[in-house]
Amino acid sequence: MERWRDRVAVVTGASSGIGAAILTDLAKAGVIVVGLSRHPDRIRSFDSTPEAQSRVHPVQCDVTVEEAVKDTFKWVEDNLGGTDILVNCAGVFYQGRLIDEHLTPQIKETFDVEIMGTLFCTREA
Ligand SMILES: NC(=O)c1ccc[n+]([C@@H]2O[C@H](COP(=O)([O-])OP(=O)(O)OC[C@H]3O[C@@H](n4cnc5c(N)ncnc54)[C@H](OP(=O)(O)O)[C@@H]3O)[C@@H](O)[C@H]2O)c1
Repeated sequence: MERWRDRVAVVTGASSGIGAAILTDLAKAGVIVVGLSRHPDRIRSFDSTPEAQSRVHPVQCDVTVEEAVKDTFKWVEDNLGGTDILVNCAGVFYQGRLIDEHLTPQIKETFDVEIMGTLFCTREA
């Protein structure tokens, strides 16, 4: 990991679960981490040392909104010099059966977050 020290990582879904764990490990390894979520107040390294915390930049971004994703990556470019690593963790999880028509909104959200969100972030990175 030494070669990634002081490089810039963008982690989506950084407010919870897998994204939060990856954000924590990257910051611990000396990477500068921009964490994205709709709730930036929930983004923090589990490692509470000031050094680890200082490496984390929480940014509010709904990955389904193309313009928001563009603005976010422009902010990273302008303020941190660009993105070296992208970790796409933003996701939703709904249970149900394909034949349950009332679940169409949840299916659409899943595609918006996990397919389009991943596409927008990967393209901008
Ligand atoms: N954990 C597992 O064992 C496991 C196994 C297989 C697959 N998965 C899948 O992997 C994905 C992540 O899992 P997880 O356990 O880390 O889930 P999680 O704890 O629910 O975290 C989901 C993350 O995605 C973010 N997110 C959701 N919608 C978003 C949007 N529109 N824009 C920006 N961020 C958004 C959430 O942030 P905000 O709500 O703050 O925006 C949150 O940070 C999920 O799709 C899950 O189904 C998980």
